[in-house]
Amino acid sequence: MKPSTIVLLTVAALLFAGPGLAAPPYMQTDTAFYPYAPSLLKWEKTGADFTEPETCGECHPEKYEQWQGSMHAMAFQDPIYQGELYLAVTKAGHDTARQCEGCHTPAAVVKGEIKGAGLKGLSPLAMAGVSCDVCHSVKGHTHWQTPYHQPENGSLILSPGTADQELTKYGPLAPDEWCGEEFHACVESKLHTSSELCASCHQVFNHRTHTPLEATYQEWKNSPYSTKSIHCQDCHMVDTKTFKRSADELVRPELAEYRHFFNGANLFLYKMTALAAEKNGNKDLAANALEKYEMALARLKAAAELAVFPVYRNGGLAEIRIRVKNIRAGHNLPTSLTNIRQMWLEVTAAGPDGKVLLSTGTPDQKGKLAKGTRIFNTRGQDGNLNFSIYPWEIETFSQNETIPPKGFREVVYGLALKKGIPVTVHAKLRFRQAAQEIAEKLLRLVPDPGHLEKIYGIKEIPLLPVIDMTETRVVINTP
Ligand code: HEC
Ligand code: HEC
Ligand code: HEC
Ligand code: HEC
Ligand code: HEC
Repeated sequence: MKPSTIVLLTVAALLFAGPGLAAPPYMQTDTAFYPYAPSLLKWEKTGADFTEPETCGECHPEKYEQWQGSMHAMAFQDPIYQGELYLAVTKAGHDTARQCEGCHTPAAVVKGEIKGAGLKGLSPLAMAGVSCDVCHSVKGHTHWQTPYHQPENGSLILSPGTADQELTKYGPLAPDEWCGEEFHACVESKLHTSSELCASCHQVFNHRTHTPLEATYQEWKNSPYSTKSIHCQDCHMVDTKTFKRSADELVRPELAEYRHFFNGANLFLYKMTALAAEKNGNKDLAANALEKYEMALARLKAAAELAVFPVYRNGGLAEIRIRVKNIRAGHNLPTSLTNIRQMWLEVTAAGPDGKVLLSTGTPDQKGKLAKGTRIFNTRGQDGNLNFSIYPWEIETFSQNETIPPKGFREVVYGLALKKGIPVTVHAKLRFRQAAQEIAEKLLRLVPDPGHLEKIYGIKEIPLLPVIDMTETRVVINTP
């Protein structure tokens, strides 16, 4: 045979090999080591059980109140999560959706209680999501044994107690003999004072392709905060004033300054938590959730800074440039579900007679943003490069406009004006948790019909809060 014929035959053999030659798997997970895969939780099964938060609260009442109404307390009940979980179970199967549950209610996953979406018939421990005993039973992690040797998808070791059924709680203190008052033993744990504790859950990767879907820890790890040993706790387990100090002065808070708020940016869920508490006649919890709403608002308002400046060309104003700077978020802004969260610029420019020369980024009555609005988000796509927002589908991102810690992005708007005409520019940086239509779609998927009325006492899905993170108004003169 001539060499060219051999080449042709080889090519033909490869082409016709077809189904026999499956694509190699992206990653191998050792399922003997990780029995809850694709969740990478591990559980030291000794006979000692997990404890409900109410019991911990009897001796630690302030911590209980701070945790209550937090996103960790709501992590499993969150109706937006429940809607998406339902879709994950129906589209990808429960064996895949276990990945989700492993972070949103870990204790109930290792105990085998969660069989799918919905809240019916579940124990208080399952409902409590990321509860006291999830974090304080963390004995260690397996960050370096995961398929890609980094923290991800719940890579924690849960160990609520020892073989003789004594409860063991891990925390930041060097324990004295009274620690735990005979209810539990105390073990000092450096892990609890570090971002590595949070990393296991705040790193969500596609379980098949290992695409980073939420990479808050990675973003933090590459930031000046990590270099200066400012950890997640130093901004999220303190009040607003202390958070600003951590971000600005890069000094860690004192032990006595930590609080169990875990306050972030989920304004809608705080509102929903307050509605549910009111429906149940629990006025204290409703007030607690609304306080956390205000705290999240203050945090978002402290996160960024805007600057507007003119660009002149040929003797006239040619464009305005807006710089958006991430001044106090310890990771990208926004972070986590960056393909769903919306942070965008609303800009208007008006001439001396009040005539509007430029207007962009104002949502319409249904809450929709016009095409062309500058949104600082990511755009996920599935294996066929079609747009997707679903964690089990997304394999690549075609765009990432998020702003790194202490970094900035600039946006340019064409605005040609002749000499002598002053223009007033009003720029706002706005935020909401999701596009209205995405939130509505997910909320409609919650498997419990009528849940909006039964749990929250509302008939219609409300508009998601749209808030101003920061704004600036400047007059630009063209000399
Ligand atoms: C590695 C842990 C982890 C895994 C796995 C995980 N999540 Fe999450 N999820 C989180 C964290 C942490 C947040 C909070 C991020 C934030 O609010 O910024 C979150 C937030 C969410 C939200 C947003 C809730 C809201 O109110 O805005 C939805 C929806 C969600 N997850 C669904 C899922 C689904 C569905 C899966 C499985 C396909 C999944 N998650 C897997 C950790 C995880
Ligand atoms: C998301 C993980 C997480 C959850 C959930 C959590 N904690 Fe903590 N806890 C921590 C971390 C991190 C620290 C160390 C920072 C500090 O000192 O507060 C800590 C510290 C503590 C301490 C020792 C510090 C002190 O000041 O006494 C106690 C006690 C405690 N937590 C109890 C609780 C109780 C009770 C709950 C539930 C109501 C709870 N924790 C929920 C992470 C968590
Ligand atoms: C009978 C009372 C009691 C109960 C119930 C209780 N604790 Fe404690 N715990 C204490 C006391 C007392 C300390 C000493 C320090 C302090 O007061 O914060 C302590 C300390 C801690 C510490 C600090 C350990 C360290 O070395 O840093 C953690 C964490 C903790 N408890 C978590 C929990 C959790 C989680 C629960 C529920 C599973 C719980 N506790 C239930 C009494 C209790
Ligand atoms: C066992 C998994 C787990 C651990 C450990 C964990 N988280 Fe979370 N965290 C979650 C989940 C799940 C959510 C999202 C709940 C939701 O929105 O439905 C969340 C939400 C949050 C939020 C609120 C986000 C928002 O949008 O408002 C903050 C802030 C946060 N976590 C900080 C921390 C910090 C700081 C630590 C470490 C001390 C930590 N978390 C450890 C799973 C975890
Ligand atoms: C220097 C302070 C600082 C540090 C350190 C920090 N954060 Fe944040 N974080 C913020 C601010 C400010 C926001 C609100 C703006 C935003 O959403 O990014 C925020 C928001 C969040 C949110 C909510 C995002 C959303 O849109 O729902 C989560 C989740 C979160 N942080 C987790 C973490 C975790 C995990 C770490 C550690 C790996 C961490 N943060 C470290 C300041 C900090």
